[in-house]
This record gives sequence, structure tokens and C-alpha cells, in this order.
Amino acid sequence: MLTPTNAAVACDADGIARAAAALRAGQLVGLPTETVYGLAADAGNPAAVSRIFAVKGRPADHPLIVHLADAADVDDWAQDIPDYARQLAARLWPGPLTLVLPARDETSRLLTGGQDTVGLRVPAHPAAHAVIASAGAVAAPSANRFGRVSPTRAADVAAELGGALEPGDLVLDGGDCSIGIESTIVDCTGDRPRVLRPGFYSDELITQSAAAAPESAAAEDRRAAGAVASTASTQPRVSGSLPGHYAPATPVRIIDAADLATITRERLQEALVITPRETAPPSPAAHVVEVSDDLDYARMLYGALRQADELGVAEVIAVAPRAEGIGVAILDRLSRAEHGSNGADR
Ligand code: TXA
Ligand code: MG
Repeated sequence: MLTPTNAAVACDADGIARAAAALRAGQLVGLPTETVYGLAADAGNPAAVSRIFAVKGRPADHPLIVHLADAADVDDWAQDIPDYARQLAARLWPGPLTLVLPARDETSRLLTGGQDTVGLRVPAHPAAHAVIASAGAVAAPSANRFGRVSPTRAADVAAELGGALEPGDLVLDGGDCSIGIESTIVDCTGDRPRVLRPGFYSDELITQSAAAAPESAAAEDRRAAGAVASTASTQPRVSGSLPGHYAPATPVRIIDAADLATITRERLQEALVITPRETAPPSPAAHVVEVSDDLDYARMLYGALRQADELGVAEVIAVAPRAEGIGVAILDRLSRAEHGSNGADR
């Protein structure tokens, strides 16, 4: 068992070597990435991968993302890779992007949740890269219990999963995640990219990056026609797309900035408010998390939801960001938190 005080290993050369050794020995590692912390296991070790499902309480038919050190490794896991997926990989990896591709026959169906597709990502975080380069590919879902808020600090991992980890597992402390919400997931099994889960990389950037260089007229036409299909909100293959995912215990309410002034003093006094700095700070609110821009909102979001649970406030009142850029992903996570915190889909 791990506790927040004894679990985290510093992200220096020794810590990275220990994490890689733990993975090679079949143990689990709380791994920092630029998006959120992952719970990593050697992707080639079925017993270790099985423990991920047990520790998270995750159903076996929910696929895991395989994290690679280098884009060149995709061919070890996937086949029939379309040109546009290679473009995405070349332009946006390493980074907060997961490509869903046709799986090779040899790719374990334990990783894919029994499907014939595999999710692949090359993370940009230097420690994640160093660990994977040393230990080999890792399967790593977000390091939270199923359906709950993803961890963005090492201490969050221990708080979420500490009781379920065993001696030999460890958490690598890479500090606060610089993006704070999970990767953009793009389905690359059809004739055009389809965003299954919004993230730091916007639909527009995915469309532009998937286009061949120099951009062909056909690609321009496709883009004009809206080449990236949006996520179906109930897309069953992505657990992160379940309506009640990413939920804290505290109820979440999303409001427009203009409506902040209409919230009663009594409600504000019992709430944690997340708001852009330019929105007039609601002075009677007991707890205010001010964010300076949309990226800051993404970085602070999960920490604020955790803080609300720790404080035991009556509700989280979140001022909606604009639905553009990473704001789309923030709204996606907020609305799932709003839905899930009503007790739905647990
Ligand atoms: O940023 C991230 O993606 C983080 C960090 C740790 O890399 N990982 C992450 O993993 O968010 P997880 O397991 O919490 O969410 C991955 C999502 C799940 O909803 C899963 O269903 C989906 O990716 N996924 C993985 N493989 C897939 C596949 N073959 N087809 C469809 N969806 C897939
Ligand atoms: Mg997750």
C-alpha cells in the first residue's frame, strides 16, 4: 500500500530508472504525462495489464491507450495505417493526441478491450518519454478509479489508488501536468479522421494537420465540407465519452458568466466557484478558483473538482469557457462532471 507521503519518487535519473525497472518487473507505475497522470504497465505483460483493470475498477471491455516512445513504433501495434494518420503522427507527436488504428493480429486484445483497433499515443512529457524509451511501450489509462476525475499531480494518484497499489508499484512525481485534461482521441479507421474525445488539439488543428502537405484541392474541399466528424455523445467505445465520466462527488453546475450575478449569496457561500479572472469575482463565495485563460482553466479544472470534494462544499459552480479551442474540451469534461455528479451512470 502507498500513501501520499511515501509513494512519490522524484523525477530524476534515479527515479526514472526505478520506474523503468518496476515496469520491467511487472509492477504498476503512476506516470506523469503532459495531459494527466497515467497508471502504466508493461504493454507486453498480460498479468501487469490485468492489474490495471483491477486497480482502477475498470470493465475489461474498455480499451487502454498504448504509449510509445517514438512514432516509428506504431507499426509494431497497428496495421493499414492511413496516410492522414501518419500526417497526424508526424505533425502532432509527441503530444496530447491518441490515434485509434486497426490493430495488428499480434496486438493483445487485452489492451484493446477485445476490439480490433488499438489506441496509440507518444507523450511529450520528458519523464514519460524517458521511462518508455527505457522500459518499452506501456499501457496507461488515467490513474483514477473508473469514472472519476483524472489525477494531475502525483499526490492525486496516491489519493485515488494508493490503497490498491502494492509494494513494488510506484508513483513518479513529475509535478503538475501542463495541460491538465486528457488527450484528443482521433479515430483513424475510416477514410477521414473523427474526433472521439476533444482535447488540447482542436478539431480544426486535427483537420489541418491530417491534410497532405502541400494541401490538395481535395483536402481543401473536404475541410470546407467539415472533414472532421464530431463525437457522437454516446460513442460506446470510449469510456471517457460516457455521459457520467470525469465526475467528482460534489454536484457540478455550469453557468454562463452573465448568470453569476443572479446566484444567491447563500448558494455562493456554500460553493466552490471556478471562473475566468475577467468575470467579476463573486465576493461572498466561500472558495473561488480564478483562471487566467482557457489553458489555465484546463490545468486547474481537475484540481478544483478534487478540492471541492476535500472541502465538502455543497456544489461547484463553473463559469463556462467559450466553446472554441481547448474550451470545447473543458466544456465536454464539465458537462460530463455535471451529469455524473447527479449520480447518473456511476
Ligand atoms: O491523455 C490521455 O489520453 C491519458 C494519458 C495518461 O495518456 N490517458 C487516458 O486514458 O486518458 P484513459 O484510459 O483514461 O482514456 C482513454 C480513452 C478511453 O475512453 C478508451 O475507451 C479510449 O481512450 N480508447 C482507447 N483505445 C481505444 C480504441 N481502440 N477504440 C476506441 N477508444 C479507445
Ligand atoms: Mg480516464
